[in-house]
Amino acid sequence: MSDFTMHFPRDFKWGTATAAHHVEGNNTNNQWWAWEQGEGHIIDNDKSGIACDWWNNAEQDFDLMAEMGLNAHRLSVEWSRIEPEQGTFDQAAIDRYRQMLLGLRQRGIEPMVTLHHFTNPIWLEEQGAWEHADIVLPLFERFVQRVVKDLGDLCDFWCTINEPNVYAAVAYLGGRMPPGKVNNMPLTLTVLRNLLLGHAIAYHAIHLIQPRARVGLAHHMRPFEGLRDGHVLDDSIARIQSALFNDGVLSAIMHGRWSPWMSRKAPSPRGIKGTIDWLGLNYYSRQRTKFDRYSPKTWYGTIHNTPDAEMSDHDYGEIHPAGMLKMLRKVARYKMPTYTTENGIPDADDDQRPSFIVSHLREVWKAVQYCYYVQGYYHWSFVDNFEWSEGWRMKFGLYELDHLTQRRIPRRSAELYKSIVNANAITSDIVRQFTPELMPVMFP
Ligand code: BGC
Repeated sequence: MSDFTMHFPRDFKWGTATAAHHVEGNNTNNQWWAWEQGEGHIIDNDKSGIACDWWNNAEQDFDLMAEMGLNAHRLSVEWSRIEPEQGTFDQAAIDRYRQMLLGLRQRGIEPMVTLHHFTNPIWLEEQGAWEHADIVLPLFERFVQRVVKDLGDLCDFWCTINEPNVYAAVAYLGGRMPPGKVNNMPLTLTVLRNLLLGHAIAYHAIHLIQPRARVGLAHHMRPFEGLRDGHVLDDSIARIQSALFNDGVLSAIMHGRWSPWMSRKAPSPRGIKGTIDWLGLNYYSRQRTKFDRYSPKTWYGTIHNTPDAEMSDHDYGEIHPAGMLKMLRKVARYKMPTYTTENGIPDADDDQRPSFIVSHLREVWKAVQYCYYVQGYYHWSFVDNFEWSEGWRMKFGLYELDHLTQRRIPRRSAELYKSIVNANAITSDIVRQFTPELMPVMFP
């Protein structure tokens, strides 16, 4: 195979992604902190603790990001810090976020700010949080208004809500996130709809304050495919699961319609249609589904991995780069600026991450060649951080974190990502150096 260069567009955004509770530390006033204290909620009963100490020193990572050549970073603001009690806003917390955003800008890194990434202030959680539209929506709107007024001179790139489908499903079906409810489909749908209404309200509120803001949301999408080749029932279940997980969010935002399965007893989705300036794709893995007549609660389908698939640490998921292009193709029909707002792998010894990065970026590059409006890639994550119910065991960082000393240790993937970012391309030299095993498949 001879030399090649897969160029990315000149103004492509090369970033990493984090969120407040993963990295800040001592977020003692949200529902996740409370949940962590419960026995058995987190693997090994881990606690987020001081996390990556960003509240005191995010700047050490900003320096490393700048050194890597990144021009973008996605981070989130923590509602429970900014509004520690209902109706009381903490200026010191807002000032700290101002400092962080300024710190990123001064290093040539454009911040994208997520307004809700899985955490709620305890005072809101005690009122049922996203279960009650009449309670949460006005409160979220007021919070968003405050953030945009106070941070708007430093940021005009907003991600309203992270993964409404994951929040609703994991907290109300899977029970692995607070409030830890299991198989409660009616509440799952209510919460999902309320998050989408929250997104729309935030979209309008932001644009009233900042007419030129770019507002989007981060949507977690996965290809669902039947487990057994040519098995009609497996394939049908896969289509249903995909419609539930992937399409409901898109249908509401793009067309202003609840999908039929979402609309039972639902208030009309007024004001949602078109509330999006860009779309964020969080892509990790694919899902295989198998018909199971004994699983009515999951629409007669069970979820599997492809037999013999390469799996990441702790069976987090199957490594399936082709799904990246598939999902980018799915959203390309909306002709929307699109960013991969998350993509990454738990891989403590970094023996899979280099080829994960190259092979997924190759799919992003293909999407660019097809003129799918892809404008950036944010790797999850910059440094190992507190991974929700998986605690500290899942290591997603380009940098390893020495938890005790807070020392950052670059993994080989950090060097690889830096090379790609600086070349603004995947080159044969980079592939030869970091992932020689991929050379034969880069241009099949
Ligand atoms: C979430 C992140 C999470 C990542 C890795 C995404 O679904 O947005 O908060 O850490 O997956 O599991």
